[in-house]
Amino acid sequence: MNIIEIDQKYHLQVYKRFPAVFVRGEGVYLYDEEGDKYLDFLAGIGVNALGQRHPEVVKAIKEGADELLHISNLYYTPSQALLAKKLVELSGLDKVFFVNSGSEANELALKAARRYGMQKGRFEFVALEHAFHGRTMGALSVTGKQKYKRGYKPLINGVSFVPPNDLKTFEFALTDETAAVILETIQGEGGMTVLDDDFVKGVREITQERDILLIIDEIQTGIGRTGRIFSYLHFGIKPDIVTTAKALGGGLPMGATIFSQKVASVMDFGAHGSTFGGNPLITKVALKVLDIISNEKFLKNVEEKGNYFRETLRQNVGRLDIVKEIRGKGLMVGVELKEKIIRDVAQKMFEKKILIGLSGDYTLRFLPPLIVKYEQIDIVVETLREVLSEF
Ligand SMILES: Cc1ncc(COP(=O)(O)O)c(C=O)c1O
Repeated sequence: MNIIEIDQKYHLQVYKRFPAVFVRGEGVYLYDEEGDKYLDFLAGIGVNALGQRHPEVVKAIKEGADELLHISNLYYTPSQALLAKKLVELSGLDKVFFVNSGSEANELALKAARRYGMQKGRFEFVALEHAFHGRTMGALSVTGKQKYKRGYKPLINGVSFVPPNDLKTFEFALTDETAAVILETIQGEGGMTVLDDDFVKGVREITQERDILLIIDEIQTGIGRTGRIFSYLHFGIKPDIVTTAKALGGGLPMGATIFSQKVASVMDFGAHGSTFGGNPLITKVALKVLDIISNEKFLKNVEEKGNYFRETLRQNVGRLDIVKEIRGKGLMVGVELKEKIIRDVAQKMFEKKILIGLSGDYTLRFLPPLIVKYEQIDIVVETLREVLSEF
């Protein structure tokens, strides 16, 4: 049996996969078993912000492995404390807890919001239609897409969904029992919808007035993806809770939930925990990732390459009949089509050795490593133009 056959026989088949077996990566390129080279414009769905095997990330992993692989959260470690300090400084919030994935980061955010809300008898959540917040029971409960919830009900109760960018409907959905609102500023899974400035600012204003917590899910949008270290910084707002994961661990699994002091203060000893969360190796690597990405010049470069990517797309594929809209921020870019053919387009791109993602039913998703070069953007745009012209 070859690797694909072994996988299909023994591994739970919950992903519809493209037929490539990857064995090596270098920067923005991946190599399969046959030695074929692929240009990766999905970056492990937004994980490999610094590309594959960035030398400084590899160095941090090796140094960390030589020092201390794991110790429980019953003791202190330097990299965990320093990473918490760094995330507090970058976010403008006050306290951090480390977990192992995005779903877990949201799970903790929801738990903390319930604890905070319970002081006033509040337990409900408001989320956005098409939102994606993860696969665990809590995170799934605030996820908009019905397909992901099929067969898992009852999920947690008290969740309502409102359309993105509709402040009136949003305000109408709030009740005396609303504990928190959760949203992504760009819906990574749900169609790459970009939230309006007025909507995000309006949500912050209304929630602040009513002491309802605002949770911003920065799992896909965070760690430099949109040209700021966290995407909410584009709006000049301060959330009560921020969740991050994906790019934070440089390719190793980690997440973090960041709290304002008023929420952190309800989380006392025993309120939450994690065996692996924030282990010494991973926090050492994350410190290195943040050091590189939080540099102002690096972030400016992401913003400029993102502008170039969208502009080049507009000029070259924006005119095709099949294309409805090109949107995004920084290097989080969506191309919405008028027909449900995104899987076929991604397949054609794959055949031309370019990896791209899908978002919702109509939108192609591009999340290249943040270290991508202009000429690699040109190759992807030109190939996409060729592929879309065939439809
Ligand atoms: C916005 C957002 N939230 C949460 C998650 C869940 O993260 P994880 O798969 O690490 O649990 C994802 C994953 O794609 C995401 O994009």
